[in-house]
Amino acid sequence: MCGIVGYVGDKQAEIVVIEGLRRLEYRGYDSAGIALVNDGDIVSDKRAGKLANLEKAIKESPLPPSTTGIGHTRWATHGAPNDVNAHPHLGRTGRVAVVHNGIIENFAKLREELERTGHGLRSETDTEVAAHLLEVALDESGNLTTAMQVACRQLEGTFTLVAVDGQDPDRVVAARRNSPLVVGLGEGENFLGSDVAAFIEHTREALELGQDQVVTITRDDVQVTDFDGNRAEGKHYHVDWDLSAAEKDGYDWFMRKEIFEQPRAVADALLGRHDGAGLLQLDEVRITEDELRDIDKIVIIGCGTANYAGLVAKYAIEHWTRIPCEVELAHEFRYRDPILTRHTLVVAISQSGETADTLMAIRYARRQRAKVLAICNTNGSTIPRESDAVIYTHAGPEIGVASTKGFLTQLIACYLLGLYLAQVRGTKYGDEIAAVVHELEKMPAHVQRILDDAESVYKLARQLAGARSVLFLGRHAGFPVALEGALKLKELAYIHAEGFAAGELKHGPIALIEEGLPVFCVVPPQGRDQLHAKMISAIQEIRARGAQTLVLAEEGDDEVAPYADVTITLPVVPTLLQPIVATVPLQLFACELATNMGHDVDQPRNLAKSVTVE
Ligand code: M6R
Repeated sequence: MCGIVGYVGDKQAEIVVIEGLRRLEYRGYDSAGIALVNDGDIVSDKRAGKLANLEKAIKESPLPPSTTGIGHTRWATHGAPNDVNAHPHLGRTGRVAVVHNGIIENFAKLREELERTGHGLRSETDTEVAAHLLEVALDESGNLTTAMQVACRQLEGTFTLVAVDGQDPDRVVAARRNSPLVVGLGEGENFLGSDVAAFIEHTREALELGQDQVVTITRDDVQVTDFDGNRAEGKHYHVDWDLSAAEKDGYDWFMRKEIFEQPRAVADALLGRHDGAGLLQLDEVRITEDELRDIDKIVIIGCGTANYAGLVAKYAIEHWTRIPCEVELAHEFRYRDPILTRHTLVVAISQSGETADTLMAIRYARRQRAKVLAICNTNGSTIPRESDAVIYTHAGPEIGVASTKGFLTQLIACYLLGLYLAQVRGTKYGDEIAAVVHELEKMPAHVQRILDDAESVYKLARQLAGARSVLFLGRHAGFPVALEGALKLKELAYIHAEGFAAGELKHGPIALIEEGLPVFCVVPPQGRDQLHAKMISAIQEIRARGAQTLVLAEEGDDEVAPYADVTITLPVVPTLLQPIVATVPLQLFACELATNMGHDVDQPRNLAKSVTVE
């Protein structure tokens, strides 16, 4: 949601912090700011808009040298995205500077109290309240770590706070509750970041923090406590990707790079998950086989693209395991009093592992004694940490705000989970499972073939760059693909785009069809069931009403050809696995169309990569 960086060491903090912010800018780009400790004081600059505005301001009016600093990129929650509301925020006397990610829920009450006691607050943010409280506590204790503990005890809600004290030049103190924060462990220097991208250029050794912890970094030391000041431990880990993964590598957008990384990402997601003969080995699933055999219901939760991965998973998991499976938006889940027992498996899908809606949903599920399994891409993030088990997707860092390789690898993880459950519960024979695994192993090559033909999709995108509305139709596992195709276009091109189940068309949405309206149609493979024929009927119906039919169909599908204005050919794959290949042209389409419209594909308006507020 917001990006946070902290540094103490012997380098110029301004350079380290700005570099870190550049790598975290995908988390929020409404404003950016920096605070440095210099000669007993805080010096700070902050600007509305993208990081480039801050950099320009610093160039025109340079900051003094400093080796201790903090920085922030904002996704606005409280108060407009202007200079005043930008972080860092200072306390009453300007002795402390604070950056914040999250929402302080009791800020209105705290603000009232502060104002009653003579504190004049300058911004509309909840963060400034924390800065004032921290400074009051600092005046009393004289110690920033103690002050942070005191301040945190007064705060309700979700927050990562990072602070510096102008009178304490070699210390940065941070705290976290339900918002992400990791420590980067260097030699004679230490770092803080919302995620490891903030410091990956300097170190790949990291410390994961628990909830309600305060961390103090100096050049040579890292100390962790709880909010009451008791000593606590972080969990050390090595980051298994390097700087090149966080760079564009010659592509114009991170998103395009990430689309083209998908053959490798899918292969990595499959790596080591079976014995070569198709016997699945999901060592990370720390739920015993007996417990898995006892499951009588699966509930899959996630938001946005992760939710669509869950919709695909439902088709596969129910088919392979015969376990009833529900898919639910994480933010709706706990408010409808869902029926959960200790025989329910809740599968939480999240690329970032930090989505607040999903996190709150899993906490609720665990309180109801359900088992929670996370499907996650981000090592050390909160959702896997608070789950009973995790399947990591191994996609590598996803920086483009629109999820691409995150989605494909979530699908792989869901398929693996479904097959593993079928194996453990004996609902599929070993050779049946091995046959699906064999098909999964072909996916990297299939995806590569689609990417090799990207130009034909780009051409279509350029032709349609003026479209005001685009529809997407699918059936069965192709329905979530339609939803995902529409979401990509909405996020990136800001045009009306909707996904429908093709069978639903005649119940209302067909009224939207008008002359020339582009409609993507995801055609199921030509199997023995009737899905394929039904989809062709839907295509005929919309074409008769003037739609421009953009058909995604498997190679050799001659039946659909007469009704397609444009055909995008997909490799021949089993029906349940088709979402992996069918999604890729829609990603390419949205990326290229938005590029042609002159939009910032990596940082679409109003969005942030991970939504760490509810
Ligand atoms: O990090 P998560 O997978 O939990 O994120 C969930 C959604 O916020 C995310 O998929 C969002 O919809 C993307 N911008 C889609 O491209």
